[in-house]
Amino acid sequence: MFVSENLGVNEKNHLIIGKNDTVELAKKFGTPLYVMDEDLIRKNCRLYKNAMDKYYDGKGLVLYANKAFCSLYTCRIANEEGLGLDVVSGGEIYTAVKAGFPMEKVCFHGNNKTADELDLAIKSGVGHVVVDNIYELEMLDKIAAENGVVQKIMFRIKPGIDAHTHSFVQTGQIDSKFGVALENGEAFEIAEKASKLANVRMTGVHCHIGSQIFDIEPFCKAAEVMMEFIKELKDKLGIEIDELNLGGGYGIRYTENDDPIEYDKYIERISVIVKDAAKKYGVKLPFIIMEPGRSIVAPAGITLYTVGGRKEIKDVRTYVSVDGGMGDNPRYIMYESEYTAVIANRANEKPTETVTIAGKCCESGDILLKDAYMPKIEVGDTLAVLATGAYNYSMSSNYNRIARPAVVAVSGGSAKIVIKRETYEDLIRNDM
Ligand code: LLP
Repeated sequence: MFVSENLGVNEKNHLIIGKNDTVELAKKFGTPLYVMDEDLIRKNCRLYKNAMDKYYDGKGLVLYANKAFCSLYTCRIANEEGLGLDVVSGGEIYTAVKAGFPMEKVCFHGNNKTADELDLAIKSGVGHVVVDNIYELEMLDKIAAENGVVQKIMFRIKPGIDAHTHSFVQTGQIDSKFGVALENGEAFEIAEKASKLANVRMTGVHCHIGSQIFDIEPFCKAAEVMMEFIKELKDKLGIEIDELNLGGGYGIRYTENDDPIEYDKYIERISVIVKDAAKKYGVKLPFIIMEPGRSIVAPAGITLYTVGGRKEIKDVRTYVSVDGGMGDNPRYIMYESEYTAVIANRANEKPTETVTIAGKCCESGDILLKDAYMPKIEVGDTLAVLATGAYNYSMSSNYNRIARPAVVAVSGGSAKIVIKRETYEDLIRNDM
């Protein structure tokens, strides 16, 4: 009935997540509140891992893309489930280290890594640095030398694939700030340059074509193009590539109109393409790396709010305001992303009115759902916005000096705080 499989309704007509009554969670922990279903996160991790074992004989590794929701908690779960990590900043590296993550299973991304971040990556024992550009390559070689190591690297390649998704999250085409392009020879040149440096060793190639993509074909095309590049590297430079990292980007269901493919199907299809290409081109079968973020955590999360005032503007629009908004979920204001909402304390009631759910920030675009067809919403209701587990907490801000909500993880029938609610004191902690 709802967009995520872990949601249901109990005998009190309350929305449940796993076995937990969301109205009780809101009462106990306060709102706004992020709730993460740990059982579903683990299930999603296993789905990917098992598919890699089944379709690619375990000769691959699934990395959880930490940017979707980075915390000690999520790093620990990814580790317990045998996944690696994709990190994209010094802060994400630091979090992974503090969570006790095995750093050799980490790939470090980013289009403008600083010298300090590269030094931290090397000192932390990050498995691969995914080099974005020539400037970074030279800087990394120097920092690796200073640290007395040879750092394993991959290159971020723009395979020239146009994935059908929001332009802000499209990254595979030549006009992108990420990586080096194949079609103008840039990728080849940087590989040639790397082959002459003493303190980096190019073991892999990487691409990531975008995010929230439903169509499997662009992923398949990207895998084909990357295998062709692997052949070119072997033929022209004698470099044998060990790892093929195909990034993340698999779409999830935010509304009933979204129709995602089961995630193991990507691995099934891509395994065949890579195996066939390796045979055809006479190159070594690469170890495959994938980096799903959203599809692991988004469906597992919901956000609970308390409904405040209603504003019925005759012949214009009805606004319903909640006690959170763009601070905890900036995805509408950034991408006009669509969500599904449920009145948690009357979960089965039939929709009767069209309302716009607004946040409490001093910003007209601070909206969570525009023109949503909902049951009559009353002041004091608990509103659940669904599928908020990715790119919500991790993209949250303190705009208007609003403190970030707590994150509660539920598993079976129990709930625990995994990130504390911020306090006013937290808000001024760094003010001098
Ligand atoms: N690997 C790389 C190199 C990436 O840049 C990303 C996401 C991923 C993996 C994970 O992609 P996913 O499986 O989560 O789609 N803030 C945007 C999404 C930005 C994605 C950035 N890169 C949003 O809220 O939709």
